[in-house]
Amino acid sequence: MDTIHLVNSAKEVRRFAYVPYSKFSVGAALLTKSNRIFVGCNIENISLGLTICAEQAALAVAASNGDVDFVAAAVVSDSKEPIVPCGRCRQLLAEFNPKLEVISSTIDGRRQIFTLADLLPRPKQGILETVRNVRTAD
Ligand code: THU
Repeated sequence: MDTIHLVNSAKEVRRFAYVPYSKFSVGAALLTKSNRIFVGCNIENISLGLTICAEQAALAVAASNGDVDFVAAAVVSDSKEPIVPCGRCRQLLAEFNPKLEVISSTIDGRRQIFTLADLLPRPKQGILETVRNVRTAD
């Protein structure tokens, strides 16, 4: 996997972040099994609560291109330490790969690697299972 390319893709898309409220630009890049990269930036809203995170934006782009076989994600921000995806994004990403590798980097290159399984254990356990319709947890 070309980690540098993935992180650079996330870094580049930060410039499109719409962040008039927080001024905190985030870029995300998702790598798929077929070696495609989909990027997204955060998009804020005056309601604040409706803000779309960079990871969610990238996920929507990937899904809209019919490719959700994610193997890794990169997230880039201008922060003292690498950020971790919020709870909502963890759950959104776990839908497609609960064991996703998440590489988080600051713009000056401080990097940390997580696995989604550590950030969000048991994302699907029991949900939508009934006695009659059993779906095994990942
Ligand atoms: N944000 C992301 O886009 N991704 C993260 O992983 C953490 C936070 C955004 C949401 C908001 O626009 C700003 O960063 C501050 O929370």
